[in-house]
Amino acid sequence: MKRAQPQIGVGLLGYAFMGKAHSIGYRDVPVIAPPGVPWPRLISIFGRTESPLEEARSRFGWEKAVSDWRRLIDDEDVQLIDNAAPNQLHAEPTIAAAKAGKHVYCEKPLGTTIDDAFQMWSAAEYAGVRHMCAFNYRFIPALQLAREIIGSGEIGQIYHYRSNFLLSSALDGTRTKKWRDSGTSGGGALGDLGAHHIDLSRFLIGSEPRRVQAVMRIVIPESETGETIETDDLFAAILEYENGCVGVLEASRVAGGHLVTSRIEIDGSKGSIQFSLHNLNELRIAGCDHAFKSVPVLRNGDPGQANWFPPGHPLGWVDTFSHEAVHLLGAIAGLHEVDPIGATFRDGYYCAEIVAAIERAAKTGAAAEVRYRNLTSRVSSAN
Ligand SMILES: NC(=O)c1ccc[n+]([C@@H]2O[C@H](COP(=O)([O-])OP(=O)(O)OC[C@H]3O[C@@H](n4cnc5c(N)ncnc54)[C@H](O)[C@@H]3O)[C@@H](O)[C@H]2O)c1
Repeated sequence: MKRAQPQIGVGLLGYAFMGKAHSIGYRDVPVIAPPGVPWPRLISIFGRTESPLEEARSRFGWEKAVSDWRRLIDDEDVQLIDNAAPNQLHAEPTIAAAKAGKHVYCEKPLGTTIDDAFQMWSAAEYAGVRHMCAFNYRFIPALQLAREIIGSGEIGQIYHYRSNFLLSSALDGTRTKKWRDSGTSGGGALGDLGAHHIDLSRFLIGSEPRRVQAVMRIVIPESETGETIETDDLFAAILEYENGCVGVLEASRVAGGHLVTSRIEIDGSKGSIQFSLHNLNELRIAGCDHAFKSVPVLRNGDPGQANWFPPGHPLGWVDTFSHEAVHLLGAIAGLHEVDPIGATFRDGYYCAEIVAAIERAAKTGAAAEVRYRNLTSRVSSAN
């Protein structure tokens, strides 16, 4: 007799931008997941406002809609809590879920403060549950290939990591103050956008920043309706990594001509790699011949290709959420660890320390050291 397909019950916080993206990710799992990966059962979705919540429940395929996130955690059918709510709502429900023995998956930035992020990592680790921070750029096949190339030594010792993440979202002339603009969100250009590229730098070059210098600006201090904007519109930072690499990172939501531009360049002693979100199925690679070549990524055997279509059929940004869901569900089933491909809550906490150091450096105008706590001693250390 055929065995029943294993399933993991999911409870989701948030039904807007990321609630939609995560729901699409789960929808694809039965189609693309390799054998052995449990399929998600979309049990319950949480939101504050009844009518759009009910519409999302019905369109995204969730069984129940609830207006109190505690009901997701209390639900015996739910084994995984997915937190795609605004940043201010990351720590409390995620910590409560971990303490209740549920696996936890949380959008970036992990917490709005270093302490929140550390407590989240700590709670998940001590509860012995699987934990993943939703740094979905790690699930772009081209960037997984870039990581493999860098790890193989093909472009030599890494000297430069350069990235920019540019939007014009604060310039649309209809700006009202949203949760992202509040000083408690942990997320302006730095925490919201820069966090992705900070995480990617660690993912790609495999080294930790130890010292930073930075500039941050609030360019438009008031919303159209006269409310004070409390988070940064742009930042630029120089990061010194422990392997000697120097990172130059910037992000902006006031970059006039840019809808979403996300570019990364890595230069080593033997070559260079370039990536742009606009052409996310290719890498540009040059060796010591100085001739950049475009490498199409979804060739036979490239990361992510086997689960989809015959080689060469392009994927998109939304597919990162499907890859991420498959990866986490596979980890819950014990097929592999969340890291190093997925970001754990440790990675989310490390990113919070780096974001905070950039803020300190920008505030004082002096270089700031980055220190990471570890779980056992729970004290600052320069490990
Ligand atoms: N991985 C990515 O590429 C990516 C992209 C965008 C956002 N994010 C992250 O996803 C999370 C959600 O962001 P989003 O863009 O989906 O948000 P959004 O702005 O699209 O939607 C937020 C929703 O939450 C509601 N809300 C606001 N405050 C609330 C509160 N206190 N309690 C309950 N509901 C509240 C709002 O009414 C709105 O419906 C954030 O952590 C963000 O950083 C990640």
